[in-house]
Amino acid sequence: MGKHVILIGFMGAGKTTVGKVLADTMERPLWDTDLLIEEKAGMSISRIFERYGEEEFRRLETETVRTLTSLTEERVVAVGGGLPLREENRRLLRQAGIVVYLRVRPETVLIRLAGDTTRPLLQGENVEEKVEKLLAYRSPIYEEAAHLVLDVDGKSPGRIGKEILCKKRLKIWDR
Ligand code: S3P
Repeated sequence: MGKHVILIGFMGAGKTTVGKVLADTMERPLWDTDLLIEEKAGMSISRIFERYGEEEFRRLETETVRTLTSLTEERVVAVGGGLPLREENRRLLRQAGIVVYLRVRPETVLIRLAGDTTRPLLQGENVEEKVEKLLAYRSPIYEEAAHLVLDVDGKSPGRIGKEILCKKRLKIWDR
């Protein structure tokens, strides 16, 4: 098993926030795939979707995740919610480290992302339906990608971070 601690899950699951807590505690750098892509492209994710489409964004995600396996320094990695959808990306993530799925309920996503304008997939009408459908489709994919699944609803980022570190220390993995 690789060296990084990798957080996956739906939009609004808290990957970046929990990632910051873990990176602080473990004294490791945080690697956020969305930020890396924005920096490299020199524009926001919304703008990438708008100008070049979702497929191009997914291509950039795969390019980014490929570099992960070659990093020598151990990191905490927060990946965009759709990145594990590609089979190649799931394989690369599992090679690169311990993959933790932060599992969140649709109600929590809706509360956390109310009024959000930065996620192109959740704009426009019927956001509730979009979240429910996307989450139902993606849940088994996230589960397949993960070594460890943690329910995050109602928990603080600090508590989630502690749970991850505790399981990591005791080497308790779901599979
Ligand atoms: C996406 C999730 C976003 C971002 C993009 C697409 C998705 O990241 O990569 O808007 O398909 O779930 P977060 O999960 O960090 O919100």
